[in-house]
Amino acid sequence: GVITCERKTLHPNKIICSFTMGSKKLYDFIHDNPFVNFYPVDYVNDPSVIARNRKQVAINAALTVDFTGQVNADSIGSAFYSGIGGQMDFMRGAAKSEGGKPIITLPSTYETSDGKLQSRIVPTLPPYAGVTVTRGDVHYVVTEWGTAYLHGKSIRERVMAMIGIAHPDFRELLLEEAKKINYVFKDQELAVGKDGRVVQYPQKYERYFLLKDGSQLFFRPIKPIDERGMQELYYDLSDQDRFYRFFSPMKTFRRDKIKPLVYIDYKTTFIIVGVKEEADIQKIVASGGYFLNPNINMAEIAFTVSDNMRNLGLTKIMLDYLIRIAQENGIDGFFGTILMENKPMLHIIKNLPYKLEATVADAEFNFKFRFADFIKKE
Ligand SMILES: CC(C)(COP(=O)(O)OP(=O)(O)OC[C@H]1O[C@@H](n2cnc3c(N)ncnc32)[C@H](O)[C@@H]1OP(=O)(O)O)[C@@H](O)C(=O)NCCC(=O)NCCS
Repeated sequence: GVITCERKTLHPNKIICSFTMGSKKLYDFIHDNPFVNFYPVDYVNDPSVIARNRKQVAINAALTVDFTGQVNADSIGSAFYSGIGGQMDFMRGAAKSEGGKPIITLPSTYETSDGKLQSRIVPTLPPYAGVTVTRGDVHYVVTEWGTAYLHGKSIRERVMAMIGIAHPDFRELLLEEAKKINYVFKDQELAVGKDGRVVQYPQKYERYFLLKDGSQLFFRPIKPIDERGMQELYYDLSDQDRFYRFFSPMKTFRRDKIKPLVYIDYKTTFIIVGVKEEADIQKIVASGGYFLNPNINMAEIAFTVSDNMRNLGLTKIMLDYLIRIAQENGIDGFFGTILMENKPMLHIIKNLPYKLEATVADAEFNFKFRFADFIKKE
C-alpha cells in the first residue's frame, strides 16, 4: 500500500478512525485488519490528540470563504448542505502540531443552475451562512489559483491574499467591494499587464535553493501582499546599506515607493524574494529584481539581503535565477550601477560568466552584459 503510517509520532503504523462508511471493498479491507484501529470520536477528534502527531496536515473543503478568512463549509445560505464534522477539530489540531499545516481548500468558482460563474471567494458570507472555521483559526486557503496564507495577517493583507487566489475574472470586482467597505486603501491596485488584464502570479517560479551553510531557503516571485514585508526589509538596513542600494540615505519607505515593487507584470519587471518562516510568520530576508528598459531591451538589476543572511550566496542565487527568467521573457541582458566601495556586489558582478562592459565614474561602477556573451570562467 501507499499509506504506511510509518512516520506517525502517535499510533505509528496504524490508521486511526472512529467510523467508516463505503463499499464492500472497504469493509473487506478493515475486517480483522490490525492496521486499522477504531477509537471513540471524542478521542480521534480531540485537537490535543491530533496535535500529538508531528507534521499533521489537515485538509478540509469549504463552500465559500470571505475576504477575512471566515470559512463556511456546511450551508449554502440557509440551505444546509452538510454537518461541520471534525473540520474545526482537525484545523486546531494541525495548527498545534509541530510543523503541522491546517489547510482549507475550494475551487475558486461555482456555476449557478443557469450556467453563470460565481466566485466562492466573497466579500461577506451570504445571509444565514454560518462560520465553520473562524478567521482566527484559518491558516492556508488554497484554490486552483494558488495559496493564501492568512494566519497573523492584517485585514488588508488578508483581503489582498484572498483576491490573489480568486478567479481572475472576479478580482477587480472583489477589489472594488473591498474598497467600499474600507478593507483596503482607496488607491489599492491589482497588477495589470500591458494588455490591461489582471496579471497572473507565476507560481511556477516558487522553489527552494540550497545556501552555502547547507540550509534551504524558499524563493518566490513577489506578491501584492508583500508591501509590509518589503518595508521591513528596507527599514532594517543600516544607513550605509541604504546608500549602497538606493544611492541616497533613504529614511522612509512609504507605500508609494513600495507599490511599484509589488504590483509587477512579471515580464518587464520581475522581483524574487527569499522568505524565511519564523514562528509561523513569513519574513522576507532578501529581494532581487530586474526592471526592463524597453529602448535597449536590457534590464537594470538591484538586490537587498538582510544583514544576518549575507555571504550565504543569496544574491548569486537570485541573480542566476533572474538571468534565466529574463531570458525566458526575451530580454537581452542586464545593466546596473554599483558604488565602488560596495565590495561584495562588485565581486559578484565581476565574477559573472559573461563579457562585462564597464565604466567607472564618480566612484560608481556602471556595468552591462548580454546573455549571448557567455564566457566560461574557471
Ligand atoms: C550586496 C548584497 C546584495 C550581497 O548579498 P549576499 O547575499 O550577501 O551576496 P552573496 O552571498 O551571494 O555573495 C557575496 C559575495 O561577495 C563576497 N564578499 C563579501 N565581502 C566581500 C569583500 N569585502 N570584498 C570582496 N568580496 C566580498 C563573498 O565572499 C561572496 O562571494 P563568493 O561567493 O565568491 O565567496 C548585500 O550585501 C546587500 O544587501 N547589501 C546592501 C544593499 C546593496 O548593496 N545592494 C546592491 C546594490 S544593487
